[in-house]
Formats: sequence, structure tokens, C-alpha cells
Amino acid sequence: MDLIGLYPTWYEPGIGSGWVIGLIATIHVLFSHTAVGAAMLFTYLAYIGYRDDRPELLDFIKKYGLFLLVFSYILGSITGPGIWYSTTVGSPRGISALIHNFVWKWATEWVFFVIEVVGVYMMVYLVGKVDKGTYLRIAITFGLASFATMLAIVGILSFMMEPGRPEWFTHGGYLLGFYGDNTFAQLGIRFAFMFTITAVVGGIVVAGLKDPVFKTWLARRLAILGIVSAVVGMAFYPWYLSTLPAQAQIVMENRIPGYFNSAILTVLIATVVYFLFTLIKPRMLTAGIAGFATLAILILGLFPGETIRESARKPFVAGEYLYSNQVIAKDVPGMTVKSELPTLDKVGFTHASVFWPEELRTITPQNAVEVGRTLAITACSNCHSLSPTGIRPIAGYFGGNTDVSKIKTYLIGALSTGNTAYMPRIPLKDAEAEALAVYLASLADPTVVARFVDEKTRAAQQKDSSAPLNTSSAAPASLIAAQE
Ligand code: HEC
Repeated sequence: MDLIGLYPTWYEPGIGSGWVIGLIATIHVLFSHTAVGAAMLFTYLAYIGYRDDRPELLDFIKKYGLFLLVFSYILGSITGPGIWYSTTVGSPRGISALIHNFVWKWATEWVFFVIEVVGVYMMVYLVGKVDKGTYLRIAITFGLASFATMLAIVGILSFMMEPGRPEWFTHGGYLLGFYGDNTFAQLGIRFAFMFTITAVVGGIVVAGLKDPVFKTWLARRLAILGIVSAVVGMAFYPWYLSTLPAQAQIVMENRIPGYFNSAILTVLIATVVYFLFTLIKPRMLTAGIAGFATLAILILGLFPGETIRESARKPFVAGEYLYSNQVIAKDVPGMTVKSELPTLDKVGFTHASVFWPEELRTITPQNAVEVGRTLAITACSNCHSLSPTGIRPIAGYFGGNTDVSKIKTYLIGALSTGNTAYMPRIPLKDAEAEALAVYLASLADPTVVARFVDEKTRAAQQKDSSAPLNTSSAAPASLIAAQE
């Protein structure tokens, strides 16, 4: 049987499922990076605190730790499962691809995460209650466990961009999928920026310190940490870009707006200026200013950064074999995965897709627009919102065009052939392309549908044939000829 196991698509009309995932994930990045950065900062502060006998440093760990318990650990632990939920419905086969490759890596990450969570409680509540050596050992364990969670996740994230080594396609195995140039470049860049974020968020806690001398000392240390890590992170950026697969390089060159590089530079300069301010005028640091800077980092730094990572890997969502619209695009012998494009070429979505509504498998003039909408939801809506809002609204790309045959020609010429670097190859049978074209044209002008039904009915009467349009390979040749 020519079937492919596409799940029913989760269609979110407001902003698109991609942005729902993106929003949750970006907020999670803020919390998780702060958690890991702070863990390492705590380890360092605990060491200095005991070495130089400075109890106020341990006191600060307690304060920042308590703040993080709410900020990072509670909110981070809500958004973490939020990513699981939203990706499971938004990209079920994407998450499945990752689980099939990395289930034990993820289990390992979870163990380290539990150590991290227990660790932060111990760091907060055991200050002054256990001896110096024990506290330091807890601090070091906490720091290392946090770093391990980051390493595990980065390996998985970088697999989404590209498998670590090309041999993975033929051999499979998580080591080949996990470790690659992109893994290390991404680890470097995240490692650096996580300290920038830690320094910014730490400012919220530092602002509330009573002792002006200590506040000045700490604000200056955080400022230096922030400046150095932002500059180092930025220096890693070209390295990161150079590790992107060729496909992503093309997408980046063509699709990333020209102002992007100057925008990044502006954010970097603004970050450095902010830290220079806290370096020179540490006493003027207030929780409001630091909170505002945190928000700015989130909106101007993390959101664009994560958007780029997600755009660059188009048309794939994972491992350079799974398209964002959930269709498997390549044979991967190492995972005994087979491309689904030949099946789609043969029978089309209407007949290959398991969950396709039965009444829409046979295309008639009357149901064409509904078939088109279902096709758009299945094949396009992962990357294009079908409403005017949200992710790359589809109507905008057709510029109000209502000419069904022109749109159909474009769909066959550009999408069915896979001629567009950043879009998947989307095989459409002739009648499917027409149905999708009717739907797309109807977005600009709903009366297109009635005209289309009219024309088709008249044409059918002229040919003295009332048979339904049908693309299945089983359809008699005369029918296929009739609709062309
Ligand atoms: C993997 C994600 C993805 C899928 C699935 C996808 N597109 Fe696109 N599409 C893009 C991206 C990315 C662009 C470029 C947008 C930009 O940079 O403004 C684009 C651009 C377009 C354009 C503008 C013309 C062009 O060549 O740039 C049209 C038209 C379009 N898409 C139609 C569709 C239709 C119709 C479908 C479903 C049959 C679809 N797309 C599915 C990602 C996708």
C-alpha cells in the first residue's frame, strides 16, 4: 500500500504552530542559560568566598539562588515540558526523529538536570550549615551537572541542523549524529552568551544589595564577566556560521535580511555599553534597569538568534532528512528510514496520507477548495500561516493573485520539482495542484471558488462527462485527460 504515516497537522491559526514553539523555546533559553551560567558562577563564588573568608559572597549565592529557584527553575521547568508538548503536536515526526536517535542522551540529560535541581536547593539552604569542603564539593558537582545538561542538549540541537558526521546517514549511531563541528561551535557560542545572560540577570539581585562597597565590587565583577563573554560569544559567531551545512549557507545568504548583521552588531554594542555603565556607575544599578536589560536581551538577542537557527535549517526540521512539513525527504540507511517522496510522487497526499479525510480523497470541483485547504494545512502550514497573521503568511506571497492556472503552474514548477532551496520538494498531482491553487486564490478573493465550480461544471457538461476529477493512478486515462 502506498501510505505514509503523517499525523494530523496541528494548525494554529493565530500565529502558526512554529511561532508557538518558538516563543516557548526562546523563553526557555533565557531561563536555562541563566541556570547553567549561574551554576558555574556560584561554583566560582563559593570557592572565592571560602578561600578569602568572605561570608557576604555566600550570602549572595543564597540570594541569587533563591531568585533563580523561581526565575529559572520553576519557570524553566514549566517551559521545558512546554517545548515537549508543543513540538509533539507541532512537529511530531521531528521530535520522533530526535527520540529515535538520542533517547539515552536525553535520559542522561535528565539525570544531570535532577542533580542540578537538587543542587540549587542545596546551594541555597546549606550555606553555613555544612563545612567548607562539603559545600565546595556540592558547588563543583552543581556546576558540572549544569554544564552536562547543556552539552547534551546542544548535541541534540545541532543534530537538528545537521547530523554530526556524514557517516551517520549510512551507519546511524548516536555518536556520529551527536558530535560534529556544529556541536562544538554552538556549545562555544552558548557557553559564552550564557555568562552574558547570567551577568544581566544577576544585576537584578545585585541591585538589591544593601552594602554599597560589596554592591560596587560585585556589580563590577559581573560587568567584566558580561563584557568579556559577549565579545567572546560574538567572536565565535563566524566560526558557528562556517559550520552550517551548505544548504543553510545558501538559505542564510538569500533569506536573512541585509540589516541583520548590523542589527547583531548594534545589540552587541548596546550590551557592552550597558555593562560599561554598571562598571562605571555600579551604585546606580537598580532592579528596574537590570530587569529592562534582561527583557532587551530576550527580545533583541535571544529571539532573533533562535529564529536564525530555525530559519537556516529550512526546509528541514531535523537531521537533514525530515522536512518541516513532516515528510521524510531522504533515504537514511543507518536508521532504516526511507524517503516518502516517491510515494507522494506516485499517489499524492490525498491518497498517501493515512489521516486524510475520506471524503476529500477524490477531488471534485465542489470539494476542490476544501482539498486545497487540507493540502495547505498539511504541506505548508508548518512554515506558512494561512491567516494574515503569524509566521510567513501564505497569502502575502501570492500578492493577491486570483489566477488559478497561474498559481497552479507556479506550484508545479517551483514546489513539485523542489526548485526552491528553502522550501521542501512538495510533490503534487495535477488535480491536487489545481485544488491548492483554488484555495490560495480564494484567500485573495473568495468568489474565485464559485467561478471555478461553474467553469468546471460547464466544461464537464460540454465534454458530456459528469465524472469526478480523480488523480489516483487507478483512474482511467480518459478521466485524467478530461481534467487537463
Ligand atoms: C519548510 C518550510 C516551508 C514549507 C513547508 C513551505 N514553505 Fe513556502 N517558503 C518558505 C520560506 C522559508 C520562504 C521564504 C520566505 C521569505 O524569506 O520571505 C517561502 C516562500 C514561499 C513563497 C514565495 C516565493 C518564493 O519562492 O520565495 C511562496 C509562494 C510559498 N513559499 C508557497 C508555499 C506553499 C504553497 C507551500 C505548501 C504547498 C509552502 N510554501 C511550503 C518555507 C516553506
